[in-house]
Amino acid sequence: MPTWIVTGGAGFIGSNFVRLALAETDADVVVLDKLTYAGNLETLADVAENPRFRFVQGDIASRETVADVFREHRPDAVLNFAAESHVDRSIEGPRLFVETNVHGTLELLEAARALCTELAPADRERFRLLHVSTDEVFGSLGATGAFSEETPYAPRSPYSASKAGADHLVAAWHETFGLPTLLTNCSNNYGPFQYPEKLIPLMILNGLEGKDLPIYGDGGNVRDWLHVEDHCRAILLVLRRGRPGQSYNVGGRSERTNLQVVDALCEALESVRPAAENPALAARGIAGYAGLKTFVTDRPGHDRRYAIDDSKLRRELGFDPRYGFEEGLRATVRWYAENRRWCEQVQAGSYARERLGLEGAAK
Ligand code: NAD
Ligand code: DAU
Repeated sequence: MPTWIVTGGAGFIGSNFVRLALAETDADVVVLDKLTYAGNLETLADVAENPRFRFVQGDIASRETVADVFREHRPDAVLNFAAESHVDRSIEGPRLFVETNVHGTLELLEAARALCTELAPADRERFRLLHVSTDEVFGSLGATGAFSEETPYAPRSPYSASKAGADHLVAAWHETFGLPTLLTNCSNNYGPFQYPEKLIPLMILNGLEGKDLPIYGDGGNVRDWLHVEDHCRAILLVLRRGRPGQSYNVGGRSERTNLQVVDALCEALESVRPAAENPALAARGIAGYAGLKTFVTDRPGHDRRYAIDDSKLRRELGFDPRYGFEEGLRATVRWYAENRRWCEQVQAGSYARERLGLEGAAK
């Protein structure tokens, strides 16, 4: 059976990928995760007893840790989900983003390169390192157009700059050392187990608790939304059938302004937990979830619009997302309403959904 090392497997997308890999492949899955504020063992509780699952707590930026894990498990593939992932936090403290996202990726590439020199030719031929990246490396779009795999990199936040740095290392390790790398650049994900600092889960929990729904700037910024399970299926496709050295854009063809997303969330909240039956709203004298919408100071350097041209992935590998946005959003609202314990556990002691990313930015 193949062994896959999944870094960042205790986070949002990584944990969804682990679940998919255990359900739909025969791979043994070794998660390597530092368990930062965003990584939680509760997120993996349902797979903890699976005999094909192992968990190692460790930092991808530690050369020794990575070497030990590679030595012990001798992976057939490495999937790098581990990252500092939140733009607002990158504005407050960029150093950790460079350390994990750039240096961490370097350590994985170097460990993979060393492993490949020891493998028999047939095993080396099959080995893959798949690096999970973002559409934010391409910068910000105007009203029209979409990012393709040929769009030049133009990152504008500390987060996206660190992801761009990592992507360049991945490409260089393929060109220079012949490492069989794969790169995916995906748009905004939503779905179960997303840390409640991100737009969709933050709005759902604030809505359920009758708190303000803070919309940055004019709410006209556009993101392209993809359900996390569809992203994970795309990654599995690329791992199995992608061409080494290539990058693949992954998107949902579901562009929405933030205001449209929040309005859709208010409707979904109403159907899952009617405002009239929510005492937290009654206590504030607010009749409907839309009454919680509040415009707040914009994010510094806020990218206006992202859009993904995913035709290469669809044409070459047959990618076809399963979730429509409104349907996926309703399922996500239901998941958060039914999993309040998980939400409390992952926030406990480290985060109270306060505004992040204004402190330290040039005013
Ligand atoms: P997340 O913040 O939910 O999870 C990140 C995981 O990485 C956590 O489990 C954390 O503990 C772990 N981690 C952080 N630093 C580490 C380190 N130094 N060593 C080992 N583990 C470490 O992030 P996510 O939203 O699941 O994103 C996963 C990947 O997908 C990231 O690389 C991100 O850039 C990329 N991505 C995310 C989105 C999105 O919308 N969330 C979209 C496109 C790409
Ligand atoms: O595009 C892919 C990227 O999507 C990933 O690489 C990142 O890891 C992921 O965090 C996400 O980045 P964004 O910055 O787009 O996601 P976030 O959820 O932070 O914000 C989405 C939009 O909503 C953005 O325009 C900012 C806005 N926003 C966000 C929050 C948290 C608000 O208006 N209010 C909020 O409270």
